[in-house]
Amino acid sequence: MRYLVIGGAGFMGSNFVRYILRRYSDAEVLVYDKLTYAGRIENLHDVWNDKRFRFVKADICDEEKLMSVVKEFEPDVIINFAAETHVDRSINEPSPFLRTNVFGVFTLLEVCRKLGVPLLVHISTDEVYGDLWGREPVDEEAPFRPSSPYSASKASGDLLCQAYWRTYGVPVIIVRPCNNYGPYQYPEKLIPKTIIRALHNRPIPIYGSGDQVRDWLYVEDFAEALDVIVRKGSRGEAYNVPGFNERRNIEVVETILKLMNKPLSLIKHVEDRPGHDRRYAMKGDKIQALGWRPRTPWIEGLRKTIEWYLHNEWWWRPLIRDEYFELDTPWRR
Ligand SMILES: NC(=O)c1ccc[n+]([C@@H]2O[C@H](COP(=O)([O-])OP(=O)(O)OC[C@H]3O[C@@H](n4cnc5c(N)ncnc54)[C@H](O)[C@@H]3O)[C@@H](O)[C@H]2O)c1
Repeated sequence: MRYLVIGGAGFMGSNFVRYILRRYSDAEVLVYDKLTYAGRIENLHDVWNDKRFRFVKADICDEEKLMSVVKEFEPDVIINFAAETHVDRSINEPSPFLRTNVFGVFTLLEVCRKLGVPLLVHISTDEVYGDLWGREPVDEEAPFRPSSPYSASKASGDLLCQAYWRTYGVPVIIVRPCNNYGPYQYPEKLIPKTIIRALHNRPIPIYGSGDQVRDWLYVEDFAEALDVIVRKGSRGEAYNVPGFNERRNIEVVETILKLMNKPLSLIKHVEDRPGHDRRYAMKGDKIQALGWRPRTPWIEGLRKTIEWYLHNEWWWRPLIRDEYFELDTPWRR
């Protein structure tokens, strides 16, 4: 099977590529990635010399380039991970989010419409459903209530996918993952930030009281869910991928500190970010009906993640500057 993985040099995409090449000897993978600050070829170092792997550095918004790559590679499936993904950055500077997450998805859909690809799987997010504080977890039919420029741009991408399925019959499946964690996640995100700062005995900022709830899934378990969706999912449908593992942010940080034998006094509460959703929570009946369940227990996944960061300083050290350790509110920059 031939996989064109757009945004495959980022955190989730690179873990998916690794999973597919390990699992299927007949898989061929072409990663198409712009290599923004979040995309790194270092994320793909262990598959780089695999004969079944190819890489093209290009932008999802470049229709001509995308068209020529799709024509030449003739993928069985295109999977789109490419996005601007950090909510704090979307508050400071929304325009790259609109460009990649909306215009990029539009460009990709146009290429699929014009060339008639067999399957497009678009990676969305649980954030499109907005804040579910005090509510029941939602299924795939729930209304969109995005709160940040990031989640609004992702919701727009979903709507374009739905419209292209309905109007042109572009064979698209939408996937809405909860928060993923694991190896190769950029140091700005909560779990790697906590591990790296704790390792340096530096304070760990928590927005507001830290009682915001997120649902956490180990990134390899997501790769497995996505593999199941590619093989068994129905075109025109959306699939939530929950972790069934809701945790308050403060609990996440405290658990990591305990596992690393570091004092809880490293935690510092800072001003909350505007529009901060207090809880995401999804039902997963549809993905469970395809036979998927998360495999990795929370503490085991956290231990593996901590171990990975401890043993792979070569990967994260070049990304760390002195400002990284400042106790500030990044959305103010
Ligand atoms: N990480 C999570 O917990 C999470 C949760 C839910 C949904 N998602 C979604 O999953 C997808 C992957 O997330 P991630 O955490 O791996 O992101 P990431 O930021 O680690 O990686 C994004 C990748 O997209 C590439 N990219 C960005 N703009 C591009 C462009 N214009 N053209 C081509 N490539 C471009 C980057 O270079 C990078 O390799 C995103 O769509 C995100 O919205 C992530």
